[in-house]
Amino acid sequence: MNLKDEILKYLKQEQTYVSGQELCERLGVSRTAVWKVIRQMEEEGYRIEAVRNRGYRLVESGDVYTEAEIRSLLTTRWAGQNLIFLDEVDSTNNEAKRQAEQGAPEGTLVVAELQNAGKGRRGRSWKSPKGSGVWMTLVLRPEFGPECASMLTLIAALATETGIRKVTGLDCGIKWPNDIVVNGCKLVGILTEMSTDVDSIQHVVVGIGINANMKEFPEEIRSTATSLAIASGGPVKRAELVAAVMAAWEQYYEIFLQTLDLSLLQDTYNQRLVNCGREVRVLAPRGEYTGISHGINHTGELLVETKDGQIREVVSGEVSVRGIYGYV
Ligand code: BTN
Repeated sequence: MNLKDEILKYLKQEQTYVSGQELCERLGVSRTAVWKVIRQMEEEGYRIEAVRNRGYRLVESGDVYTEAEIRSLLTTRWAGQNLIFLDEVDSTNNEAKRQAEQGAPEGTLVVAELQNAGKGRRGRSWKSPKGSGVWMTLVLRPEFGPECASMLTLIAALATETGIRKVTGLDCGIKWPNDIVVNGCKLVGILTEMSTDVDSIQHVVVGIGINANMKEFPEEIRSTATSLAIASGGPVKRAELVAAVMAAWEQYYEIFLQTLDLSLLQDTYNQRLVNCGREVRVLAPRGEYTGISHGINHTGELLVETKDGQIREVVSGEVSVRGIYGYV
């Protein structure tokens, strides 16, 4: 732990005034060193009261989005513990791949304030401005085969939805396979990329983009995109989101590893699925059809019952699923 992490931990723990003297003695540093860190923390957005003869007290802070703040909130054993926080990057997925190629361990998490070449699915770009989103990618080094990889995206959706619900209380849901939506608009996108050897996985990177605090969107996505701030009526603390999503990820991923399929997570996933039991339009490469969605099976395919009573297993990646009247 560096000095900032330690001072932050201490102030959060105490919740009352801590004298400069006490901090110096505890941490074995000079008063000037403590004062410098306190100044830096104020610049990052923490509100710290300094009262003569009493010391420093951490007052409620806003959306402080720094490595130290995320670290102070992480409750996981491995997910996100090797944390790489960058002010700017091309894409956190690209950086996670570079890190993985250099041997970064399972659970390495790359978080960036801004992506200048954020990537969406199907070769699209993903708008990732500074100060308003959570752009992060997790590195995994699974021992299972590539055939299991598509399920990771569904687990990521479930973990992200759980994290968002915990932090904001918003009644959001999952749009199969891996978008998170609220009020019919998209909040989150997930992009999983895999690097394989002949028949084994070298590493997988799971990229999650959460529209957190943006107040508006570019024209081309205005009708289908929203943010947590718009949906919940106020700004959210992004560091809390990162920590909550990592906690949920670790829990769900370990459940998945017990069976290497979604059999133990399927019910929870289906409960969160917005289009479960509703009519959906499947845009498949060989043409479009409609049917009633019955949720996912144990490998993550969407079960869609067509008019003739036949159940089709829709494989993600090949198709898009839309509501009958719009995006959801
Ligand atoms: C989609 O098209 O819905 C997927 C969007 C995925 C965006 C996230 S943001 C963090 C990570 N880095 C990227 O370049 N993309 C993913």
